[in-house]
Amino acid sequence: MKITSAEFISSYADANKCPQDGRPEFAFIGRSNVGKSSLINMLTNLKGLAKISSTPGKTQTINHFLINQSWYLVDLPGYGYAKANKTLREGFGKIIEGYFSKRKSLSGLFILIDSRLEPQANDLDFIQWASSLDVPLALVFTKIDKLKRNELQKNLKHYEKTILTRWEEVPTIILTSASETSGRDELLALIEESMKEL
Ligand code: GTP
Ligand code: MG
Repeated sequence: MKITSAEFISSYADANKCPQDGRPEFAFIGRSNVGKSSLINMLTNLKGLAKISSTPGKTQTINHFLINQSWYLVDLPGYGYAKANKTLREGFGKIIEGYFSKRKSLSGLFILIDSRLEPQANDLDFIQWASSLDVPLALVFTKIDKLKRNELQKNLKHYEKTILTRWEEVPTIILTSASETSGRDELLALIEESMKEL
């Protein structure tokens, strides 16, 4: 699939205010700093579309980007940012929960995982929670440019093994690098397939 247009629509602190036009949407979620906003820029080929920062906690609202005038990419705040103060943490939690309880048009969820890290409890907990949502989900490993090929393979195997101790199967996995534009075609193909099934 080709992206021919991408435009920022708005930021929302309240899921009730998000677009209600019923267009399908695909959301990116994951720990703060994992690279959600960078991935949206990589997919759309527009560097400044989603705001990114090396400091965790940059995205604090729900952000809708209209793609090809027909579907949305959604950038969400990160979870698991230990340094955020309690009010902020609870605020993000509320926004994220509100989003998932309200978005009937959510057609696919991408859970981003930092490929450099050991499986993290909060990611596994989130996968657990998300698998009850009745929305197709895929795991997107980010920042693969930071690892040597054999390190990446080792981490992946370990992750798959960890997943299989909790679940019967491993979800679709996509390997990405926003800085080296890897995994773009795979991600867009998956979105295209999901839209065909709607
Ligand atoms: P929050 O909005 O705070 O939840 O973070 P986020 O998940 O949106 O992460 P963001 O896209 O802002 O990226 C965080 C940092 O990681 C930035 O410094 C990015 O430049 C860097 N980064 C993101 N993706 C990649 C990648 O694929 N490779 C490398 N090397 N760095 C990346
Ligand atoms: Mg962000």
